[in-house]
Amino acid sequence: MQKNEHKVVSTALLAWYDVHARELPWRVSPSDRQAGVVPDPYRVWLSEIMLQQTTVAAVKDYFHRFTSRWPTVQDLAAARDEDVMGEWAGLGYYARARNLLKCARQVTQAHGGIFPDTHDGLLTLPGVGPYTAAAIASIAFDRSETVLDGNVERVMARFHDIHDPLPGSKPRLRDLAEEHTPLARPGDHAQAVMDLGATVCTPKSPACGICPLMPDCQGRLAGTAAELPKKTPKKPKPTRYGYAYVARDAGGGWLMERRPDKGLLGGMLGWPGSDWSEKPSPNPPFEADWHDIGAEVRHTFTHFHLHLRVLTAPMPDIAAPAGLHIVAKHDFRPSDLPTVMRKAYDLWRDH
Ligand code: ADE
Repeated sequence: MQKNEHKVVSTALLAWYDVHARELPWRVSPSDRQAGVVPDPYRVWLSEIMLQQTTVAAVKDYFHRFTSRWPTVQDLAAARDEDVMGEWAGLGYYARARNLLKCARQVTQAHGGIFPDTHDGLLTLPGVGPYTAAAIASIAFDRSETVLDGNVERVMARFHDIHDPLPGSKPRLRDLAEEHTPLARPGDHAQAVMDLGATVCTPKSPACGICPLMPDCQGRLAGTAAELPKKTPKKPKPTRYGYAYVARDAGGGWLMERRPDKGLLGGMLGWPGSDWSEKPSPNPPFEADWHDIGAEVRHTFTHFHLHLRVLTAPMPDIAAPAGLHIVAKHDFRPSDLPTVMRKAYDLWRDH
């Protein structure tokens, strides 16, 4: 199949998008786009990094806060690391925030504040992989790149009635998505497929009756659309256990750690604790009669569930142990904490 044989899909999609595009804070609407408004690559990049593995609903407020506080890539490049990690807290996948800063500094220092405008140029940036490079190249620079996210995979699997399960079927779905990628308005096309997947061709009970692609949708014709895409079952996640220690000094300061940059919750603030494993060893930061608050944090990471016991004790008048520091009462903002640490704080506060 050649690109132009599938042009009919893009034409129908774009006509639908012109009417039904979601209003999103990082988006230039199709009518503004037609009137010559160009997207700000900084906002497109920032939104795409935030949207990696995260929903539009969760991202919106973060996007507003980041762009109010750091309106340009130069502003972000000049930010303090801990301020950016604090603003990112709660969004998860914290390597994204560390790469965000690296990328802002690289664009500012090595590219004069101008984002590269090609897929390959964008790929050289920290935190920008093939998916994100394609998304930015198409949305910010109107390059004909294929953007394959979960929404697009679902739309393709249904439209072509593909029953091979994901993730094995990815290459085939990518080929199909490529064939549908137009030369005209590729940025709007990419966003149109995303919107269709988010609002019409939804995972459960797709609204085929209002879908602009209904007449030619093979899944719809076969009555299989709602069951697609098939997925190879995932391995169940193991459960790990651990201890977190919440201690305050006489002045109300909090004993905390800045986690190492590499690894889970890298660069984030948190409570001192044990290892997280099947059988963790208690690891209190100082000798005391630690009180178990009697409630447990439950949190799910990508590869495991975590049950965290929360213990508390007043901190004696000693220096912070190695690797830990005191966050003064007035500098402590619960919103700076990653979600699992925030849950421990909430349990501590309510106990
Ligand atoms: N998911 C990833 N990128 C997106 C975008 N630009 N708009 C909506 N959803 C998205």
